[in-house]
Amino acid sequence: MPDAAVLEQEKDTVKIVVLGAAGGIGQSLSLLIKSQLYYVVRSNKRIHLALYDINRDAISGVVADMSHIDTPITISAHYPDEENKESLKDCLTNASIVLIPAGVPRKPGMTRDDLFKVNAGIVSQLTDSIIKYCDLKKIFILLISNPINSLIPVIMNRFKYNESITKDTNIEKRLFGITTLDSTRGSIFLKDTINNLKLTSGLQVMEMPHVPVIGGHSGDTIIPVFSQCSAADNLSQDQISNLINRVQYGGDEIVLAKKGKGSATLSMAHSSFKMLIKFVDLILGNCNDLTITSFISLKNLNQDNEIASGGKELMSRINNLNYFAIPAIVTINGIKEIKFKIIDYLNYNEFNDLLPICLKNLKTNIVTGESF
Ligand code: NAI
Repeated sequence: MPDAAVLEQEKDTVKIVVLGAAGGIGQSLSLLIKSQLYYVVRSNKRIHLALYDINRDAISGVVADMSHIDTPITISAHYPDEENKESLKDCLTNASIVLIPAGVPRKPGMTRDDLFKVNAGIVSQLTDSIIKYCDLKKIFILLISNPINSLIPVIMNRFKYNESITKDTNIEKRLFGITTLDSTRGSIFLKDTINNLKLTSGLQVMEMPHVPVIGGHSGDTIIPVFSQCSAADNLSQDQISNLINRVQYGGDEIVLAKKGKGSATLSMAHSSFKMLIKFVDLILGNCNDLTITSFISLKNLNQDNEIASGGKELMSRINNLNYFAIPAIVTINGIKEIKFKIIDYLNYNEFNDLLPICLKNLKTNIVTGESF
């Protein structure tokens, strides 16, 4: 149990918590935070990394190893223990950001939805501890565990059990399902295609294209918006269709390549780290707001008004969904505004082929989570 002085010091610290830190994603992500965060954000504040996992031996070893890395980011190990019943309390108290990769990953032949029951139980338990120990008016919760499309509603429902939480804290503005890996894949698959086909793209050799991705985070709920990426302008419709399919099902390539030993871990750690850096900069006051795309609640949030008439009907259907992966402006107080305008800029195929399928399947995924 930390003493009062330690708790006082923690209040002036950016405390980053990883729940499920001994796993494939948890370890690689924690390594990036411990070894690289120091080089990419400006900070006069202490940064502390608190790592929790139910696998006691694994997390102790991981933290012992990482504690030899020469950066000023401090680190602590937490695990359930007969002697210390307060391990999650110690880990979560005064947390600024909680990342959740706790759960089971896919095996060949499994979809993300097959993980639902086990992972819904795990994230529900962890959410109860977050409710108990974190300051819900300050915390940012970043969910990695799959299926994101259903688990974000599970977490939100956990908060809704206690009406005063949603009313007093606006926690729905602080909860984000990390879908960054889809856009990471869009960028690298496009860059590889351009290089392999020796196409003209307007990109410098060391420049990466940015491919916005909206919708959900599973199969055909993923909508890569190549029309919004000028580097893709010289690709044929067939080449774009292949890229769309590869982004939607890219995770399967890794599950197959790992032959039953898990799913994406390194590319996911990289993708979550990219998102985490933005949140740390926001908390440190290095920026006033940030724009990120993630799977978020659409309820009680401001929307920009300039919705073209053609998009209105779909807009109302998206609103009926409650959750969607879409760009949003986030301040220290949480999500400030959702950038719905991206829907208006979709091209014919994205709007008429990809979006309706996404909406139908995403609805099913969300209902699964909401009825857990
Ligand atoms: P892993 O099995 O290597 O690691 C999971 C870790 O969670 C293990 O160390 C395990 O001991 C721990 N854990 C289990 N129950 C726990 C609990 N109640 N409290 C704390 N820790 C607990 O799995 P991996 O590969 O790291 O994947 C983690 C999750 O991330 C999976 O659900 C996977 O599907 C998902 N994922 C998400 C992606 C995304 O784009 N959002 C991409 C790839 C995977």
